[in-house]
Formats: sequence, structure tokens, C-alpha cells
Amino acid sequence: MPETPPHDTADVLVVGSGIAGCAAALAAAREGSDVRLVTKATRPADASTDRAQGGISVARGDPDSVKADVLAASDDTADPTAVDVLVENADDAVADVLLETLEIPFDERTDGEFDYAREAAHSERRILHVDAATGTHVLRPFLNYVDGHERIEVRQDTAALELVTHEGRVHGVLTDEASTGNPIYAGATVLATGGIGALYGRSTNPDGATGDGIAMAALAGADVADLEYVQFHPTAFDEDEPFLLSEALRGEDAVLRNGDGRRFMAEYHPDAELAPRDVVARAVEREREATGEVVLDVSPLEFESAFPTIAERCRERGLEGDEIPVAPCEHFLCGGIDVDDRGRTSLEGLYAVGECACTGVHGANRLASTSLLEGLVWGLRAGEDGAASGDEPRIVEAPTLRDSDPVLPDRFAAEKFTRLQGTMDDYLGLERDPEGIARASAALRRLKGEVDAYTRTRTSRKLYELRNACVTALLIARAAGENGESRGCHHLVTDESTAAESTADD
Ligand code: SIN
Repeated sequence: MPETPPHDTADVLVVGSGIAGCAAALAAAREGSDVRLVTKATRPADASTDRAQGGISVARGDPDSVKADVLAASDDTADPTAVDVLVENADDAVADVLLETLEIPFDERTDGEFDYAREAAHSERRILHVDAATGTHVLRPFLNYVDGHERIEVRQDTAALELVTHEGRVHGVLTDEASTGNPIYAGATVLATGGIGALYGRSTNPDGATGDGIAMAALAGADVADLEYVQFHPTAFDEDEPFLLSEALRGEDAVLRNGDGRRFMAEYHPDAELAPRDVVARAVEREREATGEVVLDVSPLEFESAFPTIAERCRERGLEGDEIPVAPCEHFLCGGIDVDDRGRTSLEGLYAVGECACTGVHGANRLASTSLLEGLVWGLRAGEDGAASGDEPRIVEAPTLRDSDPVLPDRFAAEKFTRLQGTMDDYLGLERDPEGIARASAALRRLKGEVDAYTRTRTSRKLYELRNACVTALLIARAAGENGESRGCHHLVTDESTAAESTADD
């Protein structure tokens, strides 16, 4: 008789390899758990963390001022209890993991003090950074550290496709890894799968940001929250392949000019270029529509020496001179899988951390340079909690994946993704209206129906990504349709609001 292969098990299973996933793996391993980290990434650049430019906000001994800034940027919609957790754990988490364990060489001034940067909606200089490539400088050593840890096994190029559930509890995931067979069973499963950039035509995220964790969790019955709050970064290079022009540039006095060469931000907000991100993004879009273009004028700063990595990117794209054409672009999802202060979801055995989670700290609009911090703080807390639960992996019946139909036509996923992105761009972008949201819901329902028909008989990563993107897009549309109040990133334009604005303009 052929031998049945042993079950693949771990005490704590982490899905995703950005800062939040690495932090969860590290914390669980430190508690003595055997940890498995699976990631569909094949290189660090596949995680959004690697692209984070500005840095990581710390409290610098003044937690109250950070809390006030987080709340103000969120248009007073952030959860104050979650903000307390973020801010009160910030300095310790950064000191422990980033400074002492990983020895990240954050930029210093000539006097040896950290060179704290300023970004929009921060009342103080408090952002630790390495050039404007902080994510790369944090994630690569973090991945190396985690990969070399004796209690952590990292499996790259391994996508989680479904959660394994039994009687309302999560017991692990099914993956697309053929060599070991799936599933991986775990006492605690931590989703750290990142954002949703692939749902939009232009995003600062890597292509693999397809909302996987949110979709898998929601399909298993987990609560989600705040999904209507999709954040658009105001200053991405204005091309089909955008790249980020960090808010740190505006923190160092870069200014925005419209197609008439005029600065305009003071007309939209008293803090001008340093207004909250949602306000700047809408202003940039309106000025682009009214005057043809918006540029980021970097002439007030020492661009080449202060921001060498961004300057290099600009040169690579053939950009010369001080004026960089910019346009808003999808950047971050403020909502996600609803979690508590330890990353616990509504499903037993399941945690979520990082961008796929909704901790409540961002409310309707995230403050700059708080996403790496949130991933670090909640990653550590969830990893520790998952390990401390001491739950053993339990072997339960897992769903079977079928692969009975011929290979998908190459174009299938690409065509459906293009349709999905068109719908999201048209109706669930920077500004929305109720009729558009309803149209989006109907279009997305049709699309999901077509995709579901394929996933019933075929197992392919691309197809599952497409399914996840459809599920997450539908959830965003539903959340947007249910929220009639314009706040932060969910900006509703109704006939009445347009009339009120044009009266004010007169
Ligand atoms: C940026 O550098 O502008 C992005 C920082 C962030 O998203 O928090």
C-alpha cells in the first residue's frame, strides 16, 4: 500500500512576507512556536513593504501629539483605543525589532541624532527613514533574519488559496504548493497578505496585491470593516506605470503647481501641501481636470542629495528638471478584516495583520508613515498571541481543489482583471456617487459569476487571485453603498454637494 504522506503542520502559520508577516513570525518564534511562513512572493519587491518610501513614525516621547495627528488625519473617525495601542507600543517595537534586532541604519544627522523627517498632517518631525527607500532597507534584513531563524520555515512562491475551517474555527490554509500537497494545518493562522492595488488601474502596490486575505477570510465568514476607505496617494508619477513621490518631499518644502504654474493647495486646506492625504489627492485631481496637469515642484529642496533614490527613479524615466508630473493613484486600504488589539478576527484561530486587517487606527484616512508601524506593532502582538494560545494544529477535512478542465486561455484572467479595474476606477475611485456605486456592484456581481464558473473546475493561482479580487471589490462596493456619509477617503459627490460647491465657488 502506498504510504500516506505526513500532514504538514505548524504551531503558527503566517501567510505573507511584508513587515507584518515577518513581525508575526518573529514574535511567535520568540515564544517557542514552530512557525511556517508561506508567501506567494518570489522576491522582496513583491511585498508592498519593500516599496514604502517615507518611513516609520515614532512617538519621540510625545505620544499625545501623535495620537492627535492620527485622529485629525482620519477626520476623527479612527478608533481612539486602537490609536492608543499603536502609539504606546511604537517606540518599544521600533527599538526592539528595527534597532536592536535588525540594526536598521536609519538616517542620522551630522550630530549623530536620528534625522527625523516630516510628512503631511504630522505636526512634528518624527519619521525614521533610510533615504526615501525605508521599506526596502527594513524588509530585506527582516526577511533574511526570519529566514535564518531556527524555528521559522519560509516557503516562497506558495499561494494560500482557501482557509481550512471546521465548525467555525480556522485550522490552516490550502496552498497551491504541489510538492508537499496541501493543506498546512496550524494552531493559529495569521493573514498578512497586504493590500488591493491590483483592483485599480494605477497603484503604488505590487501586482500581486489582489486582496487575497480579505477574500479568503470573508468567504470563511470573518467580519470585515471600513472597506469603503481606499486611500489614493496624491503624488504618484503621472504615467500608466506610476511610482511614488513620497510625502517626505512635501515635508521638505516641495510644492504642487497646476497647469497654469500656480500653487493651489492653500485654497483647499489651511495646511496647504501638508494637508491630510485624502484632501490633497482630491485637490490634485480637480486641478488636473481644470488645468490639464499638476506637477510637484522640487526646486525648493536639495532634491538630488536629499532624495537620491527618487531622483534616480526620475532619471530612469527620462524626467529632467524640477517639475515632476503627478496624479493620484491607489495606495492603501484603510479597512480590511476586522481585528481586535491583538489581531484576532471574528473567527477562532484566525488573525489578520498589516494592510489586510482593519485595526481601526486609520479610520477613514491613514496618516502618512503609520502603515509600517501598524504592521510591526500588530504583527508582534498577533504572533505572540497566536503562540501563547498554545493551540495544537488539528487535522480536519479540508476542501478539495478541482482541476478537471483544460488550462485556462492565457487571456482569460488578463481580460477579467482589465474589466474589474475599469469598474473600480470609474465608480469606486477618489470620488463616488450612489448611482455609480450601484452600477459597480452590478458589474462586479456579473464578473464574479463568470469567474466562479471557472474556479469550480480549475485550480490556478491567477484564477484564485481573480476570484479574490472580485470578492474584495464587491465588498468594497457594498461598504461604499451602505455608507451615505462623506468622510476621509469615502468622498461622495451628489447633485446637492456639487451644487453647494459651485455656489461656494461663485
Ligand atoms: C510616502 O512616502 O509618501 C508614503 C508613506 C505612507 O504611505 O505612509
